[in-house]
Formats: sequence, structure tokens, C-alpha cells
Amino acid sequence: MVKIENLSVEYGGGNCALKDVSLEIKEGESVALLGANGAGKSTLLKTLAGLCKISSGSVEINGTLLERKNLRKIRSDIGFVFQNSDDQLFSLTVEEDVVFGLRNMGFDFQKSMEIAGETMASLNISHLANRSPSRLSEGEKKRAAIACILAMKPKILLFDEPTSQLDARSTRLLCELLKSLKGTKIIATHDLKVAGSVCEKAAVLDNSRLVKFGNASEILSDEKLLFNCSLL
Ligand SMILES: Nc1ncnc2c1ncn2[C@@H]1O[C@H](COP(=O)(O)OP(=O)(O)OP(=O)(O)O)[C@@H](O)[C@H]1O
Ligand SMILES: [Mg+2]
Repeated sequence: MVKIENLSVEYGGGNCALKDVSLEIKEGESVALLGANGAGKSTLLKTLAGLCKISSGSVEINGTLLERKNLRKIRSDIGFVFQNSDDQLFSLTVEEDVVFGLRNMGFDFQKSMEIAGETMASLNISHLANRSPSRLSEGEKKRAAIACILAMKPKILLFDEPTSQLDARSTRLLCELLKSLKGTKIIATHDLKVAGSVCEKAAVLDNSRLVKFGNASEILSDEKLLFNCSLL
């Protein structure tokens, strides 16, 4: 469970990216995080992954309070696919990148290669295994970054714009894959179709505040709300 209470996050210079956000996400729920550019979606995901300093309020992940001394435990439960794939890929080949996280988790080389192979196949990127991530197309990079995270099978998955660089077929395949994944998923997206097809719940951020949290199909059919939050 992810329990967020009265969370505020300020960047330097008093720039408030999240204001008094409270939200409770149950185990296994999939939540679309919606909001216009600059609404605070990435900041919320980064905060859950322990990458942003909490200014006030609190976050609990599976009963553990998000604070410096618990970061290692919390990060072992969380897989975060960044908005920018270049922040995630750093090895000489895609396969090495996928294997890296698995080796860090303690899997031996052979098992890591086996899991990496299965994960790349599930994302249709087996043919990219020996390519350099820096020379891939943006959509290929995105799928490679997703493979790195899915391979580790985290309990809570955070996706920041997972389909933003993908073509129609890759988007559809990724949506099917996301739907099939067990575990808690929080997906920041500008694509309302993706939100509707993958997520049962939606949270709408507007100007750093949470303005609505509830059933995704109800929120996605609320044209007035979507319009007011610059989502239509
Ligand atoms: N590193 C940073 N330093 C200072 N301000 C930042 C930083 N990152 C984000 N912000 C500010 O915080 C606010 C929220 O940004 P955030 O990236 O969370 O928005 P977002 O909803 O993910 O937007 P987008 O849809 O464009 O990805 C914005 O006003 C942004 O300018
Ligand atoms: Mg963002």
C-alpha cells in the first residue's frame, strides 16, 4: 500500500511542485496520474522513489515510512521507469543494462541472462540485446528502459510517460503488457486512452494539487474536470 498524507514538495527557490497531496493506493491497484505539463506528476513519482526531498507531510510504502534510513528497503520494493530513458540506460549493450539490475539483486550471471532474455522477449526487443542503448530510437530506448525495471519484478511500478515515444503498435502491446502485470502500478501519462485501458483508478493533479482521485472511467468521462485541468 502507498499512503501519502498532506505531502508537499518544494524545489530550490521556493518552487512548490506538490501542495498538500493526500492519496491512498491499495496493493495491486493501477492508478493513472493525470495532469498538464508542470502539474507535478514526475515530482510525485520521484518522491515515492525517494528521489525528492519531502518538505512536509509523509509517505508510507507497504507500512514503511519514507525517510532516509528506510530508503534501501523502500527502493527494493519500487521500480521506476523514468520519463527520460537516457537517465536509465548506461551500459554498452541493452542486455548488459537489463542484466545489471538483476546482478545487483544477487542473481548469478546465468540466471540474470535467462531473466533478461525472457523480459526482452516480452517487450519485443530481443533483437536489440546487443545494440548500444545510446544508438537506439527513442521508442526502442523506452522499451529497453522498461525491460530493465520489469526484469527485477518490483512490487510497486512507477511509470513516467511510458508510451510517450512509442508508435501505435508498441503502445498497444505495452498497454497489454502493463495490464497483465500484477502488483501496484502508478502511471503518469498524457494519453487518456492509455490511462483508460490500463488503469482502474485515476488521480488528477492541477497546479501542484490533487483535485480528484477515483474511478478511472468516471474521471475520464468527466469532460468538465478534464477541460478545467487542461487535459482536453
Ligand atoms: N529539478 C527541479 N528544480 C526546480 N523546479 C522543478 C524541478 N523539476 C520540476 N520542477 C518544477 O516543478 C513543477 C512540477 O514539475 P513536474 O516535472 O513534476 O511536472 P509534470 O507534471 O511531470 O510535467 P510534464 O507533463 O511536463 O512532465 C514544475 O513547475 C517544474 O517547473
Ligand atoms: Mg513529467
